[in-house]
Amino acid sequence: MQDVPLSRTPDFYEYVDQPLARVHIENEFAVINWPDGAMLRAHALWLFENQMGDVTIEERTRESKIDPALFPDPSVLTGVAVAEDGDLEAIWADDSVARYHSGWLRHVADQRHRPDSVMPESVEWTSADLTEPITFDGAAVLADDAALHEFLEALVGYGLARLEGLETTRDVLPALGRRVGALRDTNFGVTWPVSVDVKPTSTANTTLPLPPHTDLPTRETPPGFQLLHCLVNTCSAGFSTMADGYAVVRHLREHRPDVHDVLVRANWVFFNRSPEHDHRWSGPLIDYGAPGMPLTLRAFHPVRAFPDMDDVDVPEAYAALREFSRLAGSDEFQIRYPFRPGDLVAFDNRRLLHGRDSIDVEGGQRELHGTYIDHDEVYSRLRVLSRKLT
Ligand SMILES: [Fe+2]
Repeated sequence: MQDVPLSRTPDFYEYVDQPLARVHIENEFAVINWPDGAMLRAHALWLFENQMGDVTIEERTRESKIDPALFPDPSVLTGVAVAEDGDLEAIWADDSVARYHSGWLRHVADQRHRPDSVMPESVEWTSADLTEPITFDGAAVLADDAALHEFLEALVGYGLARLEGLETTRDVLPALGRRVGALRDTNFGVTWPVSVDVKPTSTANTTLPLPPHTDLPTRETPPGFQLLHCLVNTCSAGFSTMADGYAVVRHLREHRPDVHDVLVRANWVFFNRSPEHDHRWSGPLIDYGAPGMPLTLRAFHPVRAFPDMDDVDVPEAYAALREFSRLAGSDEFQIRYPFRPGDLVAFDNRRLLHGRDSIDVEGGQRELHGTYIDHDEVYSRLRVLSRKLT
């Protein structure tokens, strides 16, 4: 039986060697230096829990297998050295030596381990920049990884991308889900129709126009992305609309800080009034979340039910809502385009404000098939495709 070489890094990436210049111990840290001036301070216990060779990193999963209750004293790190090939060597109190790949250490020094490190830059846009979503060939994206990568990069960067030329069956969304990640189930089901219903459970399934909004602000974490696939559209009306929430929020921050501050501060209770469900969440329209979290706009007014603020704030909260909605629906920020059978529009449901004109059922039929997929799924697929293709 042939020996399989042990992995050199606690992950499934391939790193280029980046030989170290020197290393020394300072307090509980190994201070690692590269010839170009880059530096990383690695704590003794971080090095301890990242030992390869099935020591503290489990070889098959590449995950740490040590219980923090069993961490030794940091003085267990007794020495450090640069190996002949430029890797780091850590010497432990029992005289064993652990090796750390110089390229892996360097990716940490360069901050490439952070969640946002391989994500495309966000491209903020208004109607001056885009008139329709950036569009890709649907069949190619379903079949080819490079095409999927390009589509997901546009989706994450612009918050909006479109596929065209797809079949008009209900198999398309699950097929795309299989290419990207788990679809998110909700009280509407894993996938759901958007059509004019006799007994609608959502304003989306009426002929009413839908002003700029985001879906499911009734949830602690609203779905990250939404996918809408057009199966039938013989209506002349019912154009789709999109506006980039980043651009709207920036405009308010710069030109109407008073309105922006109210929208960030004033909470509303969002409540879905389904006979079978009772989802509720209280939050502001502009929700910046914790540092490093993506922006969440909570803007589906059919489910915005109660002010959750001091009475004194209510009048200006209503005035701010009016201002926000006027801006999001203005020609400066909102684009408007037809939805053709075989089109699939994907968008960041927490960043983009989507909507549609009213539907004229006398003029034809309009049937969409929709689903949600969380940010995590899309980001994970994008990172794996980037790992594979670049
Ligand atoms: Fe919607």
